[in-house]
Amino acid sequence: MLAGGGGSRLYPATKSVSKQLLAVYDKPMIYYPIWTLVTGGIREILIISTPRDLPAIEALLGDGASLGLALTYAVQTNPGGIAEAFLIGKEFIGDQPVTLILGDNLFIGEQMSVAIEGNLATFSGGAQIYLKEVPDPERFGVAEIGPGGTITSIVEKPEAPRSNLAVTGLYTYGPDVVSLAERLPRSARNELEITDINAAYLDAGTLRYSIISHAVQWIDAGTPDALVAGSLAVQTATRDQASELGYVEIAAYRRGYLTRERLLAVIDQTPSDTYAERLRLAVESAGR
Ligand code: G1P
Repeated sequence: MLAGGGGSRLYPATKSVSKQLLAVYDKPMIYYPIWTLVTGGIREILIISTPRDLPAIEALLGDGASLGLALTYAVQTNPGGIAEAFLIGKEFIGDQPVTLILGDNLFIGEQMSVAIEGNLATFSGGAQIYLKEVPDPERFGVAEIGPGGTITSIVEKPEAPRSNLAVTGLYTYGPDVVSLAERLPRSARNELEITDINAAYLDAGTLRYSIISHAVQWIDAGTPDALVAGSLAVQTATRDQASELGYVEIAAYRRGYLTRERLLAVIDQTPSDTYAERLRLAVESAGR
């Protein structure tokens, strides 16, 4: 997970606090992308952030043992682009496929987990990206799909987008992504661009995609409006529709990473009665 960035569009909220630690309804933002990974079946996560923000993120999440997860941390010293994560994470990745998620990407809807789990189960190298129809594609990487149903172009923040399909901040690659990132030239803004990585897989004919269902809301929570929209969407999902969205503890429990006893211990140490109650509900509804 890449949870860096200066959060300039959220200044002054981010003047002394990581964007990914700002609250989205009842949890820090970073809980949501972790939840997305965990519900998709991933329990080993390397969290990459800035030298300023990494200690606070680590203080929040620790080594993940109390959640049944294996969390490790690495610093991105300078803002060198999203694809720099593969250089920083080289040892972590080793010879295994890897999924990258951006720490400000909220996938609101449980169908997302089903899609990720299915794609990971059948992943056999190359690249897998997730596209979402949006009204403002010029803010994102944009993929164009040809008549044959394959991607024909992928462009970062185009002035004249050729489709309304944004490339979301969730990607799975074969371990060859590391050597690809090592060979990648820096862009005009001196960054290793994730869009260049995806374009390389496109050229090689190994870029696959899933279109995220309309039942799943996707929010890149990097602006004040998106942050509020995220909070409201999570409030509706979790309070009014009983979704377990973003409750990392519950996700770990549901997947069997965390035993009932350990979850009960986590609940005992939860100072918020409301949050503790929410977790207790999950224990009580287990098996239903
Ligand atoms: C980054 C990527 C972009 C992607 C977006 C998703 O943009 O460069 O391709 O669509 O994340 O959140 P950024 O948010 O860094 O501007």
